[in-house]
Amino acid sequence: MSATIVPENNLHYPVLLKEVLSIISPQNGGTFIDCTFGQGGYSKKILQFPKAKVIAFDRDQKSKLIAENFKNKFKDRFQFYNRKFSEIDIIKTTDQIKGIIFDLGFSYNQIKDPSKGLSFNYKGKLNMKMGLNKFSAEDIVKNLTAKELEKIFKYYGEEKHSKIISKKIVSERKYKDILTEDLVSIINLTKKNYTNKNKSTKIFQALRILVNNEISELILGLSKSCNLISKNGVIAVVSFHSIEDRICKFFFNEISNLRKVSRYLPINNTKEVSFNLIKKKPILPTKTEIEKNAPSRSAKLRAIKRSTTKKIDTKFIFEKFRYLLEVEKITSRL
Ligand SMILES: C[S@@+](CC[C@H](N)C(=O)[O-])C[C@H]1O[C@@H](n2cnc3c(N)ncnc32)[C@H](O)[C@@H]1O
Repeated sequence: MSATIVPENNLHYPVLLKEVLSIISPQNGGTFIDCTFGQGGYSKKILQFPKAKVIAFDRDQKSKLIAENFKNKFKDRFQFYNRKFSEIDIIKTTDQIKGIIFDLGFSYNQIKDPSKGLSFNYKGKLNMKMGLNKFSAEDIVKNLTAKELEKIFKYYGEEKHSKIISKKIVSERKYKDILTEDLVSIINLTKKNYTNKNKSTKIFQALRILVNNEISELILGLSKSCNLISKNGVIAVVSFHSIEDRICKFFFNEISNLRKVSRYLPINNTKEVSFNLIKKKPILPTKTEIEKNAPSRSAKLRAIKRSTTKKIDTKFIFEKFRYLLEVEKITSRL
């Protein structure tokens, strides 16, 4: 789940901005990759330093419009790819990459766009596509079996009631197309004895993760980044749910000074440390930031600094999270 809420000006509120900037240090210039450009909150702050350059990615077509303004203003210091960050290695530059940032999840503008169907507070068709998708949440809910839905809700939502909710979806869809409000009622009825307000969060999270292939996106993005970042460069990730954070934490620990056994890295020299963790524990938003922007409360920032130029073999991360990657295969017939 991500960032946001500055309703006064309808702009996305960049989470942990000060902390990210202090880690990547753009004040002395250098080339940075903003993997999740969004409204350009991070990129803008980096580009305020005249010697800094940004190469940005975002899968959402709407970010392209904002990127056009950046191109006019910052000229050759800014490039934009309307592509997924799993394709980060398509960049064409001979520059050293000083920082790579991921601010995962969705932006304020995306969640407030009813046509994207990301929020359980809106009515209408299930969608959840952030951009460059092959199928929607509607396709999943309409076509997959109860067993398949259960697996998705269990692995990507960690929802205790996955089985019963899946069965109810399959029986309800015989009579009508399941809209956002229908899914919310199914969940609310199933969890009627629970007192928490947002009973739908986990199921909606699971559908969003699958529609946007968020697990393979993150794993590919991280695994390519660690060989793209220059020596002394930093990779910083802001995550918003426990699955993202678990992947990031494991990956960073394994390739850094914190790893327990030198099983994987680097190739040809299993003793050398490839990265250093900037901090052992994740950096969290301050009380003041949470008061200003409530959704930032679930944000966690982790970062690592490269200490070698040796190529890193990242097969281990695909093996470790194979059980999550397998879930994506369920959608191959959609
Ligand atoms: C939390 S917002 C980023 C906000 C940005 N840091 C700012 O300050 O404006 C996340 C953005 O990442 C984009 N995104 C999510 N997954 C992506 C992926 N796999 N590849 C490219 N963009 C992605 C979303 O479309 C969204 O615009």
